[in-house]
Amino acid sequence: MIYTPSPERYAAMEYRRCGKSGLKLPALSLGLWHNFGHVDVLENARQILRDAFDAGITHFDLANNYGPPPGSAEENFGKILQTDFRGFRDELIISTKAGYSMWQGPYGDWGSKKYLVSSLDQSLKRMGLDYVDIFYHHRPDPDTPLEETMAALELIVRQGKALYVGISNYQPAEAARAIEMLRQMGTPCLIHQPKYSMFERWVEEGLLDLLEQEGVGCIPFSPLAQGLLTNKYLHGIPETSRAAKSHGNLQKEHITDEKLGKIKQLNELAQQRGQTLAQLALAWLLKDPRVTSVLIGVSTPAQLADSLQSLQNTRFSAEELDAIEAILK
Ligand SMILES: NC(=O)c1ccc[n+]([C@@H]2O[C@H](COP(=O)([O-])OP(=O)(O)OC[C@H]3O[C@@H](n4cnc5c(N)ncnc54)[C@H](OP(=O)(O)O)[C@@H]3O)[C@@H](O)[C@H]2O)c1
Repeated sequence: MIYTPSPERYAAMEYRRCGKSGLKLPALSLGLWHNFGHVDVLENARQILRDAFDAGITHFDLANNYGPPPGSAEENFGKILQTDFRGFRDELIISTKAGYSMWQGPYGDWGSKKYLVSSLDQSLKRMGLDYVDIFYHHRPDPDTPLEETMAALELIVRQGKALYVGISNYQPAEAARAIEMLRQMGTPCLIHQPKYSMFERWVEEGLLDLLEQEGVGCIPFSPLAQGLLTNKYLHGIPETSRAAKSHGNLQKEHITDEKLGKIKQLNELAQQRGQTLAQLALAWLLKDPRVTSVLIGVSTPAQLADSLQSLQNTRFSAEELDAIEAILK
């Protein structure tokens, strides 16, 4: 069936300014790390993307290696862009990244100019795009001079292959250097993409303050700790869950009794607020104005619908915040 986006798509979504840039991002963005590869069902992926856009999600996040196999999430996204979103490119913020292992030999990994420029060329081909909106360096490279990696990002913008650039998984000190170098080159760093959830809070030790001070946006990834911060693992490991899939990145060993104890208590607190645990976990990140957008992943349209409801209540009383801290401690 031909897809016609909902005319109401901008009504319910909140858009937040990304740092001190001119760009606004939806409070929830959708990532295609899992569930969009050739191992997955294309029609499910298509439905998720349609529902997301209908709900005002304008930002879709990819990387060269998303799949499996690597590259296949970009290929599938490209197919769906062609069939469903062809007239809507100017309403979309599409990001991709390079930094993890993508192809054999010395030029398909880490942070050289050779790798970043070639990889983005490949990504654009797979997605059938002339440019991406945001291009990220996916992780810091301890061996390539930061100057070279940042110069590659700047070059890519000058070539017109990306409108903005960002960094991901950079610790505060190296992020500060990268932000300063990009500013000197006239291509400000738009955004930082760190892992951040109730279970993973390193960004609170300096990174969020730095980004606010520098006017750089923040888009936390794995906000549900890959599904742990939902009620799905409370009674075992469901067959269709990420932890059960051989290509899933969530290891069964991560689902410890200690974590399950916390999840159970958080789930009760969520119920008292009239939310699901997933909604609570997303709302807890969105309460911080330094967070531009929360980058979710979903395996079904129903999960997307559930997570979108988090936007209905992102306020917490001091008592609720204290109770959450007491559980997480
Ligand atoms: N920059 C980086 O290094 C980096 C690294 C990782 C991810 N990312 C980005 O961040 C995005 C999100 O990461 P993520 O997929 O790990 O995020 P996540 O939101 O923490 O986990 C997503 C998983 O949680 C489960 N889930 C989601 N919503 C649910 C709901 N409402 N109820 C119950 N279960 C729900 C699903 O698991 P099941 O599959 O079990 O159903 C889903 O696949 C990625 O797609 C990618 O774009 C970036």
